[in-house]
Amino acid sequence: MLEPMDAFFRARIDGYDEHMLTEIAGAKAFYPFTAEQLPDGAVSVLDLGCGTGLELVPYRARNPRAEITGIDLSQTMLDQLQVRWPGDPNLHLICGSYLDLPLGENLYDAAVSVESLHHFPPEEKLGLYRKLRRALRKGGFFVLTDYFAEGEREEQLYFQELRRRKAEQGIGEETLCHYDTPLTVEHEMAVLQEAGFAAVEVLARWENTCCVRAVR
Ligand SMILES: C[S@@+](CC[C@H](N)C(=O)[O-])C[C@H]1O[C@@H](n2cnc3c(N)ncnc32)[C@H](O)[C@@H]1O
Repeated sequence: MLEPMDAFFRARIDGYDEHMLTEIAGAKAFYPFTAEQLPDGAVSVLDLGCGTGLELVPYRARNPRAEITGIDLSQTMLDQLQVRWPGDPNLHLICGSYLDLPLGENLYDAAVSVESLHHFPPEEKLGLYRKLRRALRKGGFFVLTDYFAEGEREEQLYFQELRRRKAEQGIGEETLCHYDTPLTVEHEMAVLQEAGFAAVEVLARWENTCCVRAVR
């Protein structure tokens, strides 16, 4: 059964961190690696789909001066993140969809997203990446760590299966459900380039997860 995105994560909040760190291949390495790519000093960083902040823990340990804005659909996940740093004035949490929310212009030195964007088709990502690029300052960059389909056939099968399940359950095409539809990393990079990002490159791989960097 498909579940709405926020309900899916609300129902799995207990043990979420443990699950990610122990069940997702490469997670113990890719969270610190992703954090290492983010800038030093009194910078502004945007996290798309920050969840409970697993990528922010190693980053803030290294750079407590960073001002962080985290966006997530799930208030339950954000509440769990907030208890890590209660009352921290450098942490701004916004509950909503990064697909719909305005991200502003020239606000961030870097953006990051980990294990969140594999739920969306290329056309939605294109709009998001254009908006994200405008939100970055000159010289700013985006670090995307996510899991990717191994080939085009696999990519197509995920989207077909999501459409089939939505039709079967009478769920509208536009309803946001938790179902993984990863692109191939080549398609993801092409969408970033189409959105205007430059120097798009894969920095590291852990099985089917890659860390991609793209410069504004
Ligand atoms: C697997 S979790 C990853 C969370 C965190 N980045 C991590 O790696 O632990 C995916 C997160 O993305 C959030 N998410 C999915 N789609 C979203 C959207 N359109 N807007 C904001 N958050 C979204 C979910 O609510 C969830 O917290």
